[in-house]
Amino acid sequence: MSSPVIKAYKELYIYVKPYKLLVFALFLLTILVAPARLMFSPILKFIFDEVFSTEKPYNVALRNLHTVILVIIGITIIQSIIQYWQIYIQSVITQRVMNDLRVRVYAHLQKLSMEFYQRWHTGEIISRLSNDITLIPQALNSILIDIPLSSLMLLGALGYMVYLNWKLTIFTLAILPFIASVVSYLGNQMVRVTRQVQQRFAELIKLLEERISGVHLIKSFGMEESEIFKFQKVSRESLEASLKSAKIIATQTPIITLLQTIGLLGILWFGGLQVLNKSMTPGSLMAFFTALLMMVDPIYSISRSFNTISQSAGAIGRIFELFKVEPLIKEKPNAIAVNSIKGEIEFRNVTFGYSNDAPVIKNVSFHVNPGEIVALVGRSGAGKTTIVNLLMRFYDPQEGSILIDRIDIREFKLQSLRQQMSIVPQDIILFSDTVLENIRYGTPYATRQEVIEAAKSANAHEFIMQLPKGYDTVIGDESGIRLSGGQRQRIAIARAFLHNPKILILDEATSALDSESELLVKDAIIRLMQGRTTFIISHRLAFVKEANHILVIENGEIVERGTHSELLAKDGIYRKLYEASSELNST
Ligand SMILES: Nc1ncnc2c1ncn2[C@@H]1O[C@H](COP(=O)(O)OP(=O)(O)OP(=O)(O)O)[C@@H](O)[C@H]1O
Ligand SMILES: [Mg+2]
Repeated sequence: MSSPVIKAYKELYIYVKPYKLLVFALFLLTILVAPARLMFSPILKFIFDEVFSTEKPYNVALRNLHTVILVIIGITIIQSIIQYWQIYIQSVITQRVMNDLRVRVYAHLQKLSMEFYQRWHTGEIISRLSNDITLIPQALNSILIDIPLSSLMLLGALGYMVYLNWKLTIFTLAILPFIASVVSYLGNQMVRVTRQVQQRFAELIKLLEERISGVHLIKSFGMEESEIFKFQKVSRESLEASLKSAKIIATQTPIITLLQTIGLLGILWFGGLQVLNKSMTPGSLMAFFTALLMMVDPIYSISRSFNTISQSAGAIGRIFELFKVEPLIKEKPNAIAVNSIKGEIEFRNVTFGYSNDAPVIKNVSFHVNPGEIVALVGRSGAGKTTIVNLLMRFYDPQEGSILIDRIDIREFKLQSLRQQMSIVPQDIILFSDTVLENIRYGTPYATRQEVIEAAKSANAHEFIMQLPKGYDTVIGDESGIRLSGGQRQRIAIARAFLHNPKILILDEATSALDSESELLVKDAIIRLMQGRTTFIISHRLAFVKEANHILVIENGEIVERGTHSELLAKDGIYRKLYEASSELNST
């Protein structure tokens, strides 16, 4: 076994350890089942030499025959009982290990920072938790049952063969290692190939997910044909990897069978000579062959097990790789849990880039008093969303600091920091659940009445009441009733109302609305902003007039700042943007 394989299973062992009593019970059962199976070889010798022997009187032979039948029945019953427990205990162990691991990975994923989700594709993560993890039960079966049982069977059969005829045994042993080494050589090749198969498959899933959720885009540009072509290409790569792996498995099996036949013929010849020389009874040769045949299955099983183990090592490695990703945003050991803040915010010379090469936010400084409204305006890609991402500490700035109530946000416990804020984001996410639960998301202890109040304040109550089951209607992006853009926004606003934060972030909360829903949303937002420090990002400048501070962002820098009237008087970028936007609005 190569070292990455051993490493993978060492990591998996931690998850098996809690069940070591069950593992021990499983080994005990294995120790019982092996002799029961091996018994058939001496029984056969008994049948040939004591039942069918012409030298025994009829009634003795008959009694022997009956004894044999009773013994076989007894062994079979015992074996069945053991088998029941073996299968059951083994499932308990493997399924529990898989469940524990799955939950631990998910918990780890929840703790990772946004930066991780930006680097990793959803499909790739899901494939590790779906495809890869299902290989674990098979691998554990090999380790916990197949290999120990097969090894015991091999040892037992071998011991009996030595007892029957040591010369024939030595002759047999001369052939076995050769077969075994070919088997293990072929088995080792599997790790690499399987890893490739899994990677290709993950890529396929990634493409599928992206393209099916993006079907709107595909259709609107008439790209169906080109998408089929692209899918064919990726699918073919996956096929090729699978076929390559199949080829290796396909070559391996016949090679082993061929070698076995040659070996058996040799033994038949050598053993036949012993019987002809009278140094062995025919019954002993029969028993020897049975013992030998009993070794075939275990050898197969062991080689298969090692294959499974190597194959799964790749998958297990891929799962544990996730654990090695550390959250980039770390809490200090003595981080402060904030319960309530006033909502004073300061950015001090903040510089930040998503990757290390180019900063997206450059030396940004500003100060906001509690309850004030800050508007971030600027062209698409200027860095507006990035600024609020930094405030929520989804990322840490490379330089400078962000302070809330004059304390660096890195001093706060993450969860308690984010509890102080609510965001009505650019892309609103609804989980497949009822309206009630969707509004309650983030404020789980709110009562139904509180949810309804929040919805009323968000101007959402009316349309919710018109849904088939009112607040209990299942909505969502994957299933359930789909809401319009304006309705989604009002659900998000209701969420924010209910959450009742000191800091409110509205990212394009008025984009893509018709004038009626805009009025409803605007009205709700104005109410929502009361008494909270608010960041408002909007392309519609009519909406930001009331802000205490307007920051004009261009290429990650604040290029102009002031109130609406100050900036208009300045006759700079803001004025141009404003004129352009009011022209748009008047047409
Ligand atoms: N997750 C990300 N990873 C890498 N780069 C990003 C990421 N998000 C944004 N960027 C880059 O950072 C820059 C600023 O993006 P940001 O989303 O802050 O712009 P914005 O001002 O909110 O634009 P818009 O008005 O279109 O929402 C852009 O150049 C964008 O390409
Ligand atoms: Mg944005």
